[in-house]
Amino acid sequence: MEIIIITAAASNGAIGKNGAQPWYCKEELTHFIKTTIDYPVIMGSVTMKEINNPLSGRENLVLTSKSHKDDATGFLYFNSMGNAISYCNDKDYKKLFIIGGESVYKLAMEIADRIVISIMDFAFEGDRFFPEIDLNKWVLEKEDRRKNFVIYDYKRKV
Ligand SMILES: NC(=O)c1ccc[n+]([C@@H]2O[C@H](COP(=O)([O-])OP(=O)(O)OC[C@H]3O[C@@H](n4cnc5c(N)ncnc54)[C@H](OP(=O)(O)O)[C@@H]3O)[C@@H](O)[C@H]2O)c1
Repeated sequence: MEIIIITAAASNGAIGKNGAQPWYCKEELTHFIKTTIDYPVIMGSVTMKEINNPLSGRENLVLTSKSHKDDATGFLYFNSMGNAISYCNDKDYKKLFIIGGESVYKLAMEIADRIVISIMDFAFEGDRFFPEIDLNKWVLEKEDRRKNFVIYDYKRKV
Protein backbone atom coordinates (compact mmCIF):
# COMPACT_ATOMS: atom_id res chain seq x y z
CA MET A 1 0.00 0.00 0.00
CA GLU A 2 1.36 3.38 -1.02
CA ILE A 3 1.27 6.06 1.70
CA ILE A 4 0.84 9.51 0.18
CA ILE A 5 0.91 12.90 1.85
CA ILE A 6 -1.35 15.41 0.15
CA THR A 7 -1.33 19.07 1.07
CA ALA A 8 -1.75 22.62 -0.14
CA ALA A 9 0.65 25.25 1.15
CA ALA A 10 1.06 28.97 0.60
CA SER A 11 4.35 29.99 -1.04
CA ASN A 12 5.85 30.54 2.46
CA GLY A 13 4.81 27.04 3.59
CA ALA A 14 1.77 28.11 5.64
CA ILE A 15 -1.06 25.57 5.66
CA GLY A 16 -3.40 26.94 8.30
CA LYS A 17 -4.34 29.66 10.72
CA ASN A 18 -6.55 29.45 13.82
CA GLY A 19 -7.54 25.87 13.04
CA ALA A 20 -8.61 26.51 9.46
CA GLN A 21 -7.16 26.66 5.95
CA PRO A 22 -7.11 30.37 5.24
CA TRP A 23 -8.00 30.33 1.53
CA TYR A 24 -10.45 28.75 -0.87
CA CYS A 25 -9.34 27.63 -4.33
CA LYS A 26 -11.91 25.61 -6.27
CA GLU A 27 -9.43 24.09 -8.75
CA GLU A 28 -7.13 22.98 -5.93
CA LEU A 29 -10.05 21.41 -4.07
CA THR A 30 -11.08 19.55 -7.24
CA HIS A 31 -7.52 18.19 -7.58
CA PHE A 32 -7.66 17.06 -3.92
CA ILE A 33 -11.00 15.29 -4.41
CA LYS A 34 -10.00 13.62 -7.71
CA THR A 35 -6.73 12.37 -6.20
CA THR A 36 -8.14 11.02 -2.93
CA ILE A 37 -11.58 9.72 -3.92
CA ASP A 38 -12.18 6.03 -3.09
CA TYR A 39 -9.10 5.90 -0.84
CA PRO A 40 -8.89 6.24 2.96
CA VAL A 41 -7.72 9.57 4.40
CA ILE A 42 -5.92 10.03 7.74
CA MET A 43 -6.16 13.34 9.60
CA GLY A 44 -5.56 14.82 13.06
CA SER A 45 -8.44 15.73 15.35
CA VAL A 46 -7.99 19.49 14.75
CA THR A 47 -8.37 19.00 11.01
CA MET A 48 -11.40 16.79 11.67
CA LYS A 49 -13.06 19.64 13.60
CA GLU A 50 -12.34 21.97 10.68
CA ILE A 51 -13.91 19.76 8.03
CA ASN A 52 -16.77 18.92 10.43
CA ASN A 53 -18.38 16.29 8.16
CA PRO A 54 -16.55 13.25 6.79
CA LEU A 55 -15.26 13.60 3.22
CA SER A 56 -17.64 11.61 1.03
CA GLY A 57 -16.51 8.58 -0.95
CA ARG A 58 -13.57 7.99 1.39
CA GLU A 59 -13.06 6.34 4.78
CA ASN A 60 -12.18 9.15 7.20
CA LEU A 61 -9.63 8.06 9.84
CA VAL A 62 -8.91 10.46 12.71
CA LEU A 63 -5.89 10.37 15.02
CA THR A 64 -6.71 11.29 18.61
CA SER A 65 -5.44 10.42 22.08
CA LYS A 66 -8.96 10.78 23.45
CA SER A 67 -11.47 7.96 23.56
CA HIS A 68 -14.50 8.05 21.27
CA LYS A 69 -17.31 5.59 21.88
CA ASP A 70 -18.47 5.12 18.29
CA ASP A 71 -18.16 6.41 14.78
CA ALA A 72 -21.79 7.50 14.43
CA THR A 73 -20.53 10.73 12.89
CA GLY A 74 -18.88 8.77 10.09
CA PHE A 75 -15.34 9.32 11.37
CA LEU A 76 -13.20 6.39 12.53
CA TYR A 77 -10.89 7.06 15.50
CA PHE A 78 -7.38 5.70 16.07
CA ASN A 79 -4.91 6.33 18.88
CA SER A 80 -1.81 5.95 16.70
CA MET A 81 -0.66 6.32 13.10
CA GLY A 82 0.40 2.65 13.16
CA ASN A 83 -3.10 1.46 14.08
CA ALA A 84 -4.70 3.64 11.39
CA ILE A 85 -2.29 2.31 8.74
CA SER A 86 -2.90 -1.31 9.86
CA TYR A 87 -6.65 -0.78 9.44
CA CYS A 88 -6.10 0.33 5.81
CA ASN A 89 -3.64 -2.49 5.13
CA ASP A 90 -6.17 -5.04 6.40
CA LYS A 91 -8.73 -3.69 3.93
CA ASP A 92 -6.36 -4.16 0.99
CA TYR A 93 -6.34 -0.54 -0.12
CA LYS A 94 -3.70 0.19 -2.76
CA LYS A 95 -3.19 3.76 -1.50
CA LEU A 96 -3.87 5.84 1.59
CA PHE A 97 -3.68 9.60 1.90
CA ILE A 98 -2.41 11.63 4.85
CA ILE A 99 -4.36 14.91 4.76
CA GLY A 100 -2.97 16.90 7.70
CA GLY A 101 -2.64 18.99 9.69
CA GLU A 102 0.85 20.06 10.66
CA SER A 103 1.38 17.53 13.49
CA VAL A 104 0.22 14.62 11.34
CA TYR A 105 2.31 15.73 8.34
CA LYS A 106 5.39 15.85 10.61
CA LEU A 107 4.81 12.22 11.65
CA ALA A 108 4.01 11.13 8.11
CA MET A 109 7.22 12.61 6.63
CA GLU A 110 9.08 9.69 8.22
CA ILE A 111 6.93 6.97 6.65
CA ALA A 112 5.28 8.29 3.48
CA ASP A 113 6.24 7.08 0.00
CA ARG A 114 5.11 10.22 -1.83
CA ILE A 115 4.26 13.87 -1.22
CA VAL A 116 1.74 15.59 -3.47
CA ILE A 117 1.97 19.27 -2.59
CA SER A 118 0.16 22.19 -4.18
CA ILE A 119 2.11 25.40 -3.74
CA MET A 120 -0.20 28.38 -4.06
CA ASP A 121 0.93 31.51 -5.90
CA PHE A 122 0.61 33.66 -2.75
CA ALA A 123 2.14 33.82 0.73
CA PHE A 124 -0.01 33.78 3.86
CA GLU A 125 0.64 34.63 7.49
CA GLY A 126 -0.29 31.30 9.08
CA ASP A 127 0.31 29.54 12.38
CA ARG A 128 0.73 26.02 10.92
CA PHE A 129 3.30 25.07 8.28
CA PHE A 130 4.22 22.13 6.07
CA PRO A 131 7.55 20.58 7.15
CA GLU A 132 10.65 21.22 5.04
CA ILE A 133 11.07 18.75 2.16
CA ASP A 134 14.65 17.49 2.43
CA LEU A 135 15.94 16.91 -1.12
CA ASN A 136 18.45 14.40 0.24
CA LYS A 137 15.43 12.21 0.99
CA TRP A 138 12.91 13.18 -1.71
CA VAL A 139 13.10 13.48 -5.49
CA LEU A 140 10.76 15.63 -7.56
CA GLU A 141 9.06 13.41 -10.15
CA LYS A 142 6.36 15.66 -11.63
CA GLU A 143 5.43 19.31 -11.77
CA ASP A 144 2.04 20.48 -12.99
CA ARG A 145 1.31 24.21 -13.36
CA ARG A 146 -2.33 25.19 -12.79
CA LYS A 147 -3.93 28.65 -12.82
CA ASN A 148 -3.23 29.67 -9.20
CA PHE A 149 -0.83 26.99 -8.01
CA VAL A 150 1.71 24.32 -8.99
CA ILE A 151 1.35 20.65 -8.02
CA TYR A 152 4.68 19.02 -7.13
CA ASP A 153 4.87 15.24 -6.82
CA TYR A 154 7.83 13.97 -4.78
CA LYS A 155 8.87 10.36 -4.31
CA ARG A 156 11.00 9.09 -1.42
CA LYS A 157 14.53 8.23 -2.52
CA VAL A 158 15.38 4.56 -2.08
N1 LIG B 1 -3.47 23.29 3.69
C1 LIG B 1 -3.64 21.99 3.92
O1 LIG B 1 -3.40 21.14 3.05
C2 LIG B 1 -4.13 21.55 5.28
C3 LIG B 1 -4.57 20.23 5.46
C4 LIG B 1 -5.00 19.86 6.73
C5 LIG B 1 -4.99 20.76 7.77
N2 LIG B 1 -4.56 22.02 7.56
C6 LIG B 1 -4.51 22.99 8.66
O2 LIG B 1 -3.63 22.49 9.67
C7 LIG B 1 -4.06 23.01 10.94
C8 LIG B 1 -4.21 21.87 11.93
O3 LIG B 1 -2.95 21.28 12.18
P1 LIG B 1 -2.55 20.89 13.68
O4 LIG B 1 -1.15 20.41 13.66
O5 LIG B 1 -2.89 22.04 14.57
O6 LIG B 1 -3.61 19.75 14.05
P2 LIG B 1 -3.91 18.29 13.45
O7 LIG B 1 -2.63 17.67 13.01
O8 LIG B 1 -5.02 18.38 12.47
O9 LIG B 1 -4.49 17.56 14.74
C9 LIG B 1 -3.69 17.45 15.91
C10 LIG B 1 -4.35 16.46 16.84
O10 LIG B 1 -4.39 15.17 16.23
C11 LIG B 1 -4.19 14.18 17.23
N3 LIG B 1 -2.96 13.45 16.95
C12 LIG B 1 -1.92 13.84 16.17
N4 LIG B 1 -0.99 12.89 16.12
C13 LIG B 1 -1.44 11.87 16.88
C14 LIG B 1 -0.94 10.59 17.22
N5 LIG B 1 0.25 10.16 16.76
N6 LIG B 1 -1.67 9.79 18.01
C15 LIG B 1 -2.87 10.20 18.48
N7 LIG B 1 -3.42 11.40 18.20
C16 LIG B 1 -2.71 12.21 17.41
C17 LIG B 1 -4.17 14.91 18.56
O11 LIG B 1 -5.53 15.00 18.91
P3 LIG B 1 -6.13 14.92 20.42
O12 LIG B 1 -5.82 16.25 21.00
O13 LIG B 1 -7.60 14.68 20.15
O14 LIG B 1 -5.45 13.79 21.10
C18 LIG B 1 -3.63 16.26 18.17
O15 LIG B 1 -3.98 17.28 19.09
C19 LIG B 1 -5.37 23.74 10.68
O16 LIG B 1 -5.13 25.14 10.58
C20 LIG B 1 -5.82 23.20 9.34
O17 LIG B 1 -6.61 24.11 8.62
C21 LIG B 1 -4.14 22.43 6.34
